[in-house]
Amino acid sequence: MAKGADDKKRAAAEAALVYVQAGAVLGVGTGSTVNHFIDLLPTVRDRITATASSSVASTERLVAHGFTVIPLEDVDTIPVYVDGADEVTDNLEMIKGGGGALTREKIVAAVSETFVCITDDSKCVDVLGTFPLPVEVIPMAQRHVARQLEALGGRPVLRDFITDNGNIILDVHGLRIARPAEFETQLDAIVGIVTNGLFAKRGADVLIVADDERVETITR
Ligand code: A5P
Repeated sequence: MAKGADDKKRAAAEAALVYVQAGAVLGVGTGSTVNHFIDLLPTVRDRITATASSSVASTERLVAHGFTVIPLEDVDTIPVYVDGADEVTDNLEMIKGGGGALTREKIVAAVSETFVCITDDSKCVDVLGTFPLPVEVIPMAQRHVARQLEALGGRPVLRDFITDNGNIILDVHGLRIARPAEFETQLDAIVGIVTNGLFAKRGADVLIVADDERVETITR
């Protein structure tokens, strides 16, 4: 029977609970799929001593459930980080940042040993780029960055949004990202970009995808 997207997100989130390690700091991402994960965490409360979060919104939700959220500045390493994606390939490369939390997500991902991506099947693609690529930009660099993105073949559109870090987001339309890691490196070199939403150089290690019938786990 066909499931709604929300049911699939919850199923993927539930399947990620087995990755929660006892006594370790748990990395928690941002978005509607992760919100299901956070809401399920009380079922494994005995395993969780502390969490690290990628956004103000997730921090507030974790605190509302009674979990301790520690600043990332105080964490050396995170064994497991659970987060969603806007698009993901078979190679576990992702576009993230639809919710605007890409910079903190990339930082938490960088200090994590295992990145567990949870998603419904609508996010699975052969080639990244149909979902507009979010790019967080220092406000004064907006026009410069937009010109650079156009030169790379994209059509940047300013989002009506300010990030948790006080920056703007350009959503880049019209891309077909055949080589995500190379493109991520090109974007990393543009002055004024804080973070781009390509998670290819540090992709997911585990992908949990829920469709109408089942929940599948793919490991890198
Ligand atoms: C937040 O900035 C994003 O990277 C989210 O992880 C991504 O947009 C997935 O969000 P949903 O779970 O709401 O689809």
